[in-house]
Amino acid sequence: MHRAADAATLAELVALMDRYAVCAVGHNRPLSNEEHIAFSLQLGPMDRGKSPKIAGTGIRIPHNELVDQSNMDQDGAIYAEGDRRLAFKRANRLWHTDMSFRQVRATYSLLSAHVVPPEGGDTDFIDMRVVYDALPQATKARLDGLVVEHSYWYSRKLGGGPDPTETERASRPPARHPVVYVCPRTGRKSLYIASHVSGILGWPEDAARSLIDELMAFATQPRHVYSHKWRVGDVVIWDNLITLHRATPFDDTRYRRDMRRATCREAPVHSVPA
Ligand SMILES: [Fe+2]
Repeated sequence: MHRAADAATLAELVALMDRYAVCAVGHNRPLSNEEHIAFSLQLGPMDRGKSPKIAGTGIRIPHNELVDQSNMDQDGAIYAEGDRRLAFKRANRLWHTDMSFRQVRATYSLLSAHVVPPEGGDTDFIDMRVVYDALPQATKARLDGLVVEHSYWYSRKLGGGPDPTETERASRPPARHPVVYVCPRTGRKSLYIASHVSGILGWPEDAARSLIDELMAFATQPRHVYSHKWRVGDVVIWDNLITLHRATPFDDTRYRRDMRRATCREAPVHSVPA
């Protein structure tokens, strides 16, 4: 997948993504950062956002198109227990979809495996179109027209992360999105929620929490889940608008796990909040 793809191949990939929502592509070696970025650029405008301002974070991967999803600092050392960067990473174990806390949402994520731990660290996925289709009719009717707020910091806190500083909080303000997403290519509806959801517009907090918790519980039933077991060289592509995913635990203060993510967006983003 590191070679430039022709238009027919790209169209075929988009069609496969529309059908399966998640696709895994194996390679006999990890993609280089440059190959990863070049391929991802063919699937839409890419996020070149700055990482959130987590105090003490250095830069391990010198490309602002790639998100470092490893448990390593800029020198390749594993984060120590108690490191707030590790605490924020562990919040990825909550069911979420990438960048729903941004107004210009993520479309495809392309996650590339460079180093995988000997055990654990699978990534779980759910096709939220299947979930939407399975909802009772009365629930679908309740969702009609609802807009929800997604906050990065809400889910970090929920995941056991520390309270963000004011600067951290300001680096990622919340976003609002319809709770039902309709794919323009397929016309299929899906439920666009995540652990980032902090409220429903116009609803009291308790009622909103109760409905969101109910929907998340329904969505995340084991029968809806695919677990990807990583091999070095794998690239898994998912459509964030129609899926949920989560990291699963591994011994993250003992083993290295080096995963790098490119993220496409709905539209070019020229100025991401600092
Ligand atoms: Fe993610």
